[in-house]
Amino acid sequence: MFTSKECLACRRDFPALEHRQGDLPVAYLDGPAGTQVPQSVIDAISWYYRTWNANARARFLASEETDKVLQQSREAVAALLGAPSWREISFGQSMTTLTFSLARALARQLEPGDEIVITELDHEANRGPWLDLREQGIVVQEVRLESTGRLDPEDLQSKVSARTKLVAMGLASNALGTVNDVGLARELCREVGAYFLLDAVHYAPHFPLDVTALDVDFLLCSAYKFYGPHVGILYSRPGLLDRLSTDHLRTQPTVAPHRIETGTLNHAAIVGIRAAIEYIASWGDGPDLTSKLESAVAAIADWEHQVARHYYENVRQLPGVTVWGPDFADRLRAPTVSITIDGVDPAAAAKALNTRAIQVRDGHFYAARAVEVLGLAERGGLVRIGISMYNTPEEIDRLLEGIEALGPR
Ligand SMILES: Cc1ncc(COP(=O)(O)O)c(C=O)c1O
Repeated sequence: MFTSKECLACRRDFPALEHRQGDLPVAYLDGPAGTQVPQSVIDAISWYYRTWNANARARFLASEETDKVLQQSREAVAALLGAPSWREISFGQSMTTLTFSLARALARQLEPGDEIVITELDHEANRGPWLDLREQGIVVQEVRLESTGRLDPEDLQSKVSARTKLVAMGLASNALGTVNDVGLARELCREVGAYFLLDAVHYAPHFPLDVTALDVDFLLCSAYKFYGPHVGILYSRPGLLDRLSTDHLRTQPTVAPHRIETGTLNHAAIVGIRAAIEYIASWGDGPDLTSKLESAVAAIADWEHQVARHYYENVRQLPGVTVWGPDFADRLRAPTVSITIDGVDPAAAAKALNTRAIQVRDGHFYAARAVEVLGLAERGGLVRIGISMYNTPEEIDRLLEGIEALGPR
């Protein structure tokens, strides 16, 4: 169970939520760009620096302990993603950096005329690295985004062919909250023998993940979106990474998960990932980390959905407000809601809300193509609110008052 009682209790774990702007408590509604971090994550990071802080793979205690805690973090991520073991979990500076590395590696297997399918809905991190491959003669097809905020399944079907080598799409949109039904893409990939890659950066903080059930070749996410530090995460299907020609030094381990990890990793931050996953799990029940995570993620998702729905149902009643993206008729929606207000520039709206200590983001949030397709690029994009486990209905009521005071103009 994660109700308003647990939400209020969890807020005490996040020091940054105690900030006040003047006499107003800060309402932090920019989780899709990075959530706040609980004290236990901060403690784990400083514990590593205070205790071990050595480079990996040497024959002295601090280095052996470093190897151990890095592996424990990979194990915790494997539990979060439903991966068979820590060997399938690689770390990097960010999801974007890992996707560029993966694109360069996959490109070495491709020939001019081979095709990659991406979508108009995705964050640029899952578009730019693939679009760059056009320079070497790879054809990139883009699945059409409909005005409802959903991808067009017929367009997807028509764009996957025997020439397709990879379908790269998002599980959830960080701009519109859309959760994509990825079953069709997976089926098409299997039919034509293409790789299937999912960007789970926006999905991972809000929904249970199971890479085995998803039957995906690569899945990427980012720990700073689920209460952890700034580290990118790559899951690769067992055995797959070992067969890729990744950028790597001849002195570097050539097996998974290290094969794509260039240079020394951010050890302290990686230790913080495990603490973040254990923090999430602490809100669930069960005999082990996996079952605790399962029940915690489901309970937190229920709460976030409830708070987001409260916002959605009320904001859409306000004069001049348009809500973009799918409605809340089913659960196929992340608790992320973007709006425009007639006659009100999104940047001006975000600035005005900031004077009420309400922190929201405006613009395209790097989902620039989606904002262009919706015809919003020239109008300054969207005003987005993202609900995280610590957001309350009272914060939403303050936000609604702030939006009502803004317009329409
Ligand atoms: C859906 C989505 N994909 C990818 C990214 C990029 O993640 P990172 O900042 O780790 O590169 C983001 C970040 O906002 C995102 O929301």
